[in-house]
Amino acid sequence: MPAVVLVGAQWGDEGKGKATDLLGSRVDYVVKFNGGNNAGHTVVIGDEKYALHLLPSGILSEGVVPVIGNGVVVDIEVLFEELDALVERGVDVSRLLVSSQAHVITSYHRTLDKVTERFLGKRRIGTTGRGIGPAYADKINRLGIRIADLFDPKILHDKVEGSLDQKNHLLVKVYNRRAADVDAVTDELLAYADRLKPMVANTPLVLNNALDAGKTLLFEAGQATMLDIDHGTYPFVTSSSATAGGAVTGSGIGPTRIDSVIGVIKAYTTRVGEGPFPTELFDDSGEYLRKTGGEYGVTTGRARRTGWYDSVIARYASRINGLTDLVVTKLDVLTGMDKVPVCVAYDVDGERFDEMPDDQSAFHHAKPIYEELPGWWEDISGARAIEDLPANAQAYLRFIEDISGSRISAVGVGPRRDEIIPVHDLIHAR
Ligand code: GDP
Ligand code: IMO
Ligand code: MG
Repeated sequence: MPAVVLVGAQWGDEGKGKATDLLGSRVDYVVKFNGGNNAGHTVVIGDEKYALHLLPSGILSEGVVPVIGNGVVVDIEVLFEELDALVERGVDVSRLLVSSQAHVITSYHRTLDKVTERFLGKRRIGTTGRGIGPAYADKINRLGIRIADLFDPKILHDKVEGSLDQKNHLLVKVYNRRAADVDAVTDELLAYADRLKPMVANTPLVLNNALDAGKTLLFEAGQATMLDIDHGTYPFVTSSSATAGGAVTGSGIGPTRIDSVIGVIKAYTTRVGEGPFPTELFDDSGEYLRKTGGEYGVTTGRARRTGWYDSVIARYASRINGLTDLVVTKLDVLTGMDKVPVCVAYDVDGERFDEMPDDQSAFHHAKPIYEELPGWWEDISGARAIEDLPANAQAYLRFIEDISGSRISAVGVGPRRDEIIPVHDLIHAR
């Protein structure tokens, strides 16, 4: 019966894919409710490594129904490529359902993403260039193309024409690019229709029926709290609702049906792209975290910015998402440090902030106030219980649990499926 929401508590890449995969054998449906192929989730099963972008990570679990919800933006070419690659590796993808109301990323969205970033110059967001922002902008502007439109050529043509009417002026007159051709774009999209059709469903109805039938549903966020369009470090955010509220609007279930909200959080912090990051490191420690943690983007290959654990952000994520559980990942990466600093509050021009400043300038100027904890040197990747960890690693976890606003229910000690310490059951009724 439980409906479990899983979100990123920082700036993404916390290990949501691994956490979802961990629960895979116990859930009936895994629903992606926001974002698109800007996401990059690595799941390691035995010696096999999978990189997923648009598909929910639950697709790797036998028997799970993976669902692309209405809140997602779908690049259909990428969808087919990802499905083909999985089929080639023997993964059964036949149960996938795609919401008829999900919006479509077209070639002109990808073009606009790239040219607007170039035009922004030093104000750029550092997007993944996948067309995410322009596709969501069209959705909000009521100029979007939805999956259902692909099954009516006349309507599709009309909508593409409407969407391109203004954009082509922009492309040609402002951005000095070629206009997109209405017929060509329509044909390109129509060519996907036959293959897509059997996957398309009324997913809000399917999901509510599944809940009525006592099934277990996991709602898996792309991106993270600090990249959320409302609650993140605007404008350096993605264009969707990556927090727990997005699971409701992006899937069509009511908020009263959600039992628990898991926040996935690294034992340190990373960020890709531009924007403020108070605990960012520019020294050898930062490079050490990047190297040891393999902090390079799954989607764009960019080196991730690295920094210490920030409990102000953890408390903020706990609050905004109503977290019931934390999954702390990559504790193993901190092994081998003399001291491990944890940010407990910010100093903004002499004033102490224990909670996230409401004022963007204050956040941009926030200097971390650290407490230093003693490190550990032992290899912890074989730990399967908290007691297996060195005393200093246990103390580190207790410290961050006490100041992060939610209980720690699991701890990652390596990338593999079994490299995890269970603490509390992650699937529970409210
Ligand atoms: P996601 O976008 O939140 O799913 O995270 P990514 O897959 O982009 O990045 C997380 C990376 O950390 C992946 O390469 C995972 O295989 C890896 N990972 C996840 N949990 C752990 C952990 O506990 N320890 C280590 N060393 N790596 C982990
Ligand atoms: P997962 O799901 C980390 C960042 C981009 C950029 C900003 C906007 O793997 O955690 P967009 O292309 O979405 O318009 O880019 O958001 N970003 C991510 N950073 N992990 C992600 O996904 C991200 N998806 C987008 O780097 O700063
Ligand atoms: Mg990622």
